[in-house]
Amino acid sequence: MLHAGSRARINSPAPSPKASGARTTRGPASLTVIANRLPVHRVSTASGHRWESSAGGLVTAMAPVLRKVKGAWVGWAGGTTKIRPFHHEGVSIRPVGVNREEVEKFYNGMSNRTLWPLYHDAIRTPDFQRSWWEKYVEVNQRFAKAAAKASPRGSLAWVHDYHLQLVPQMLREMRPDLRIGFFLHIPFPPEELFEWLPWRSQILRGLLGADVVGFQTYKAAQNFSRLCRSLTEADGTDTDLHYAGRRIRCGSFPISIDFDWFDRRAKHPQTRAKALELRAKLGARRKVMLSVDRLDYTKGVLRRLQAYEELLEQGYVHAEDSVFVQIATPSRETVSDYAALRDEVEQAVGRINGRFSQPGRVAVQYFRRNLTRDDLIAYYVAADVMLVTPLRDGMNLVAKEYIACRPDNDGVLVLSEFAGAAHELTRALLVNPRDQTSFVETIRAALRMPTDAARMRMAFLRARVKRHDVFNWSEEFLAALRHGRHEPRPRSSHAHA
Ligand code: ADP
Ligand code: F6P
Repeated sequence: MLHAGSRARINSPAPSPKASGARTTRGPASLTVIANRLPVHRVSTASGHRWESSAGGLVTAMAPVLRKVKGAWVGWAGGTTKIRPFHHEGVSIRPVGVNREEVEKFYNGMSNRTLWPLYHDAIRTPDFQRSWWEKYVEVNQRFAKAAAKASPRGSLAWVHDYHLQLVPQMLREMRPDLRIGFFLHIPFPPEELFEWLPWRSQILRGLLGADVVGFQTYKAAQNFSRLCRSLTEADGTDTDLHYAGRRIRCGSFPISIDFDWFDRRAKHPQTRAKALELRAKLGARRKVMLSVDRLDYTKGVLRRLQAYEELLEQGYVHAEDSVFVQIATPSRETVSDYAALRDEVEQAVGRINGRFSQPGRVAVQYFRRNLTRDDLIAYYVAADVMLVTPLRDGMNLVAKEYIACRPDNDGVLVLSEFAGAAHELTRALLVNPRDQTSFVETIRAALRMPTDAARMRMAFLRARVKRHDVFNWSEEFLAALRHGRHEPRPRSSHAHA
């Protein structure tokens, strides 16, 4: 959910009143964010180019804090051309250069063909290549150097995600005066999978360079602490490790969205009109089911299509009375597993439509493109049922966005047990997407849920996401980093229903 190059055309959310200061008054003295992607993307113009803010939870959460403290953001601009540091909306942008070979070995290779599949339950077999690892070390070193240069004395540095797991330790060696935080946006695997990694202790030592290591879920934090105790010299508890004479806090900090911003946009008369128009085009009386995903094999798109096909086959739904809208963003298309997935998904959509569509009524409405934020929100408003059913996902912000876009408390969320969000959103209809029988039953139950029951569930979900929004997330993490203290939320709020 970091802003993605592939999503560069999404309109950035305007900051909500919270973002413009009300809840960031106790900001740090100074902060440097270090993430693979920069918070801006280049847009070509008649006279050259300009930089625009990218969309995404992290940018929304960090931009106001960074503007306030005049902080810096160290990251990759997404291409291979050299870009000089510049300022954007009060934030110092420090681009890190990545050459063609490094894009191939550091980004496509080690990040997206080794770590990504390994950390997502090895849904695809991870590939382990020494030359990818060597580039991963080199590029991490470059990010660490850039962060060391950008950070004022005694300030905070916040490193993000699986691309940069060596940076905390590298940065500590260069700048022991900094307080360093690390947050992993994707799952952290159990011991039996992580142990496959030929560079497992190097990665753990890299992360142990941080003062606070944050994860999306309690289980991920626990996996990390256990691995540190068994594979490094660290000792301590699941939330408090001791290593190299330092104390390291580990914990869950589930990321969220700017709830108020989505809520306001969803209520806006223009959005309501757009949603009505969409419903009329899709067929005013049809039940609308919706999914929105990056085209990634972790998202379970094929299993979902299979479940929908079974609903049609069994006659539980018909193309006349319902439609499944699948919005899919192209992603990492130079990696072969992603290209193959796209073919498989498109074949399945073609097969289902060939079998079940009626004149003027397609069974699956498939869009492989980026939508603007406003168009996306109109779909959230228009959908009766939202299907968020990844095979494994760090959080899955789409689920929270749908909830924020239901101000009337209507709509039903079907959510995979394997999304990080399931630990918080226990009143969604939780499903194991590999269990096709119960998947089909759960979609049926969602379609037939009585209005009162749906409203009760949605009201609970909305209260939860409103309370734990993205500003709450960044405040909690920064407070832990500043004061070396993390008060974990009660376990019950992280437990499965
Ligand atoms: P991931 O970070 O793995 O892509 P998330 O669900 O956490 O998954 O975040 C995806 C983000 O991308 C959400 O903010 C969602 O609104 C946005 N998004 C996904 N698909 C599209 C699309 N086709 N058009 C516009 N935005 C999209
Ligand atoms: O969820 C992990 C993540 O890296 C997000 O932060 C990002 O938005 C998404 O995957 C797409 O990543 P990429 O930078 O590879 O396009």
